[in-house]
Amino acid sequence: MDRIIIINGPNLNLTGERETKFYGKISFEDFLEELRNIFPSIEIFHFQSNIEGEIINRIQESMLEYNAIILNAAAYTHTSVAIGDAVAAIDIPVIEVHISNVFQREDFRHISYIAPHCIGSISGFGLDSYRLAINHLIKK
Ligand code: DQA
Repeated sequence: MDRIIIINGPNLNLTGERETKFYGKISFEDFLEELRNIFPSIEIFHFQSNIEGEIINRIQESMLEYNAIILNAAAYTHTSVAIGDAVAAIDIPVIEVHISNVFQREDFRHISYIAPHCIGSISGFGLDSYRLAINHLIKK
């Protein structure tokens, strides 16, 4: 488990600036640096897109390039059958991650088209949700 990709969906490029009560004040780039320092022996790749099809393309390609995916599909989590299908189509482990606790928020955020195809879901621990996912993956 030495090559892991984090795939982030729409608006997560604004982490640190947008709705800080949910997503905190640290930019994802700064957090990524921290994460790479915590796990020096793992190559942690990062892809962010606001475009559904680009996320699907990257999920499909990841099967050949990485050992696992940490996926925060953001709002597409709650709408995208197509991203759910892409996760179902590949045979590397995928962990669903959310920064905020989606179950404390609006009802539409309680639905995930991604979760049924993932090995597990982590939600509500701030950016630390990503670290928890890696902690699990490195035990494999
Ligand atoms: C999110 C939760 C989603 O409901 C929301 O649309 C996001 C971010 C999270 O990380 O908490 O954009 O995935």
